[in-house]
Amino acid sequence: MEWRVPLADIDFDEQEVSAVTDVLHSRWLSMGEVTQGFEQDFASFIGAKHTLAVTNATAALHLACLASGIGAGDEVIVPSLTFVATANAVRYTGATPVFADIESDNWLNISPDSIEACITERTRAILVVHYAGFPCDMPAIMEIARKHDLVVLEDSAHAIGSLLNERSLGTWGSIGCFSFFSNKNMTTGEGGMLATDNDELAERLRILRSHGMTSLSWDRHKGHAWSYDVVDLGYNYRIDEMRSALGRVQLKKLPANNQRREHLTNLYREMLTELVPEVHMPFEAVRGTSCYHILPILLPPQTDRIHFMEGLKSHGVQTSIHYPPVHQFKIYHDEWQKRGISLPVTEDVAAREVTLPLYPTMSDGQVEWVVQAIKDTLQSKNTR
Ligand SMILES: Cc1ncc(COP(=O)(O)O)c(C=O)c1O
Repeated sequence: MEWRVPLADIDFDEQEVSAVTDVLHSRWLSMGEVTQGFEQDFASFIGAKHTLAVTNATAALHLACLASGIGAGDEVIVPSLTFVATANAVRYTGATPVFADIESDNWLNISPDSIEACITERTRAILVVHYAGFPCDMPAIMEIARKHDLVVLEDSAHAIGSLLNERSLGTWGSIGCFSFFSNKNMTTGEGGMLATDNDELAERLRILRSHGMTSLSWDRHKGHAWSYDVVDLGYNYRIDEMRSALGRVQLKKLPANNQRREHLTNLYREMLTELVPEVHMPFEAVRGTSCYHILPILLPPQTDRIHFMEGLKSHGVQTSIHYPPVHQFKIYHDEWQKRGISLPVTEDVAAREVTLPLYPTMSDGQVEWVVQAIKDTLQSKNTR
């Protein structure tokens, strides 16, 4: 379907085309010099000591859990209002994700109080998600972790370029995980990045990323190594040079694109407040600097969400839901019910949330079109 206003769009031009073409002409396609350059660019952008590019953020999350020593018998506290990969990555290691509630219907991030209530003698780590690019309450979460001797990991898939107290998200915990999936603030199609300041963790991540091997094909190609040992049960989570080339170009565009997202978000807020005040736009108060990854709204209670989304579709506006809560998915539901813990704020927000279009090449006029479509749709009897 041709959308008048799609949910997301990429900002690609001749720069991306020529960066990839250069790689193809170079005849070295797997992880090499371009990837090293991308990792260095990203490290200086977020202010991390080590960065490692990987196939996607799900792989990054898996390796972050493994390198932190998380495994069978351990519990990791995660939000339920996230993409399922956050919880799945914990499960891959044999550990159990324990779902914490979010702060409020205004701040859709994991709640420090709920985290504390989830802690047991089996808890090993807290894996936070900076929903929509807005910072979790990291000072409070770091303090809980210190008090209970827990690891903090950051799913920063949404948060490329976000800051809290002048510090990049993804560098607060021991390891940060970023996504370059095609709807993210910068994209390589599929791709991800790990970030850490810890030398030992960086080395473990490096080895786990490539089959547990002590040297890479690239090292051997450059004559730096003749052979290798395998010292751990690793994976093939390597990125390739074409994606790293895209990443280097996209990273250069990111600051201006994040600014444009901020402008569009402010425009949405102004127009929604004026034209449809019954719609709630979360993250009203300021905490740090967001990269404005997505634009969530909460519909008034009792609104039929599917009819609402269909109404917007009839105006050519694509919408989505972020997210169906993970604890309600079939594969998590039964185990979670046995714990007898409810997540009332997550469940209320997730039932009313709709994500509106947001991307840097979107025009101000398109925001106006979307808000007018919301007004028309809410006024029509279908959404009652
Ligand atoms: C919060 C969150 N975590 C993890 C992921 C997984 O990222 P990837 O698709 O790069 O594996 C995503 C992707 O959409 C995400 O939004």
